[in-house]
Amino acid sequence: PLPEAFEVPLPIPPVKKPVRTEAGVDHYRVVQKKASLEILPGLRTEVQGYDGLFPGPTFDVRSGRTTVIEQVNQLDVPTVVHLHGGHTPAASDGWPLDLLLPNGGHHHEHMQMSGGDQKTGSRTYTYPNTQRAAALWYHDHRMDYTAPQVYRGLFGLHLIRDDEEDALPLPRGDREIPLLIADRAFAADGSFRYPAAKDGPGVESAYMEGVVGDVVLVNGAPWPILDVAAARYRFRILNASNARRYELALDPGQPLIQIGSDGGLLGTPVEQASLVIAPAERFDVIVDFSKYQPGTEVTLLNKLGKDRTGQVMRFRVTGRASDDTSIPSKLSSYAEVREPAGVVRRKWAFRRGDAGDHKGWTINGKPFDPDVMQAEVKLDQYEIWSFVTDVHHPVHVHLAPFQVLRRGGKKPGPYDRGWKDTVDIRPAEVVEVLVRFTAHRGKYLIHCHNLEHEDMAMMAAFRTS
Ligand code: C2O
Ligand code: CU
Repeated sequence: PLPEAFEVPLPIPPVKKPVRTEAGVDHYRVVQKKASLEILPGLRTEVQGYDGLFPGPTFDVRSGRTTVIEQVNQLDVPTVVHLHGGHTPAASDGWPLDLLLPNGGHHHEHMQMSGGDQKTGSRTYTYPNTQRAAALWYHDHRMDYTAPQVYRGLFGLHLIRDDEEDALPLPRGDREIPLLIADRAFAADGSFRYPAAKDGPGVESAYMEGVVGDVVLVNGAPWPILDVAAARYRFRILNASNARRYELALDPGQPLIQIGSDGGLLGTPVEQASLVIAPAERFDVIVDFSKYQPGTEVTLLNKLGKDRTGQVMRFRVTGRASDDTSIPSKLSSYAEVREPAGVVRRKWAFRRGDAGDHKGWTINGKPFDPDVMQAEVKLDQYEIWSFVTDVHHPVHVHLAPFQVLRRGGKKPGPYDRGWKDTVDIRPAEVVEVLVRFTAHRGKYLIHCHNLEHEDMAMMAAFRTS
């Protein structure tokens, strides 16, 4: 039986504190461990989480200020941490074979894989945060096992802030709320039900398309409720689901005011009657609850869902409150990059594919091979990348953000604005983006962020130099 909706208060993941600061660098320590949590009322769920939390703690850091995170693996599986949306040196980007092996655990053969920089017990990731304010997130990226490991809890938010954003009169403090949306399926005893293949990586063949659950969690709580004052709120929305996309809308209706996307603030705010959000995408949104009478209950709907998955959470407008915030008509210095002439063009085709004994998903006809670089990319030059699909695929590029130039040969869609690092490509569609990699040389990834597709090899490596 599914839990009642709108009974559990919305939890807010705790903000992580540094263990020390040295020479302007903040050092943190995170322990990846199991914990038994009450996610569904009255039941226990074993999670594998950063600090044993589901989702993990939120990092709240300054642009340009380096963060060093010691990750300690106390689980019984190898892990890899990736900072999604981060402008990160290759050594800390979470290459899928740069495993962090658990301490003391006995090592299965798959832990002896070659081609990666392996560490045992703990490993340090360095993030220079050399980028504008934005909502990034961090999650597991272990080769072949990202999907089950994120499903069991290895994900969390990483906010970067800067002076340009701080100067705006936007809602802040307890009126700036992260919403990490992730669907899950549970067994009757409260444990996560993930249809892992019996032998080896991937999922049972019925789940090739991706794993969706029948319970919608926000910040780890099923269909939660949040009491809000009749005032403006800023929501930092992340779709942390493995495979489900949502179309978010308010009921009773009023538009969502979009102020930012994956890569930070837009130039100007945009009213969206609804927002389609694919796995790994982020939207930064203002809702003005003063437009509702106190006492009103406002439901955040998922117009792509049926029955219970058609709802996400609820807000209860409590009472009038003072509000000195506003939404400036100019949000940031964001500018569209003019399409340069004579740029390098590359095509990336995302398709179902059987290559030899590989049954799964491919990019340009090839399943992921960590030894094959599908592109050699020069730093600092603009490139136009075309993403081509068979079915729906949310495409993600590491290291650099991009701007969407064209969708299906036409102007970008309503949700494509701003700097993006993940773009949802609809069936049989072509999306062209303008991208430029800077600063860091090494091996990086492009992949589908439907995590089951990713684990079933829909990933490719490229090298920057
Ligand atoms: Cu969010 Cu390569 O991943
Ligand atoms: Cu895909």
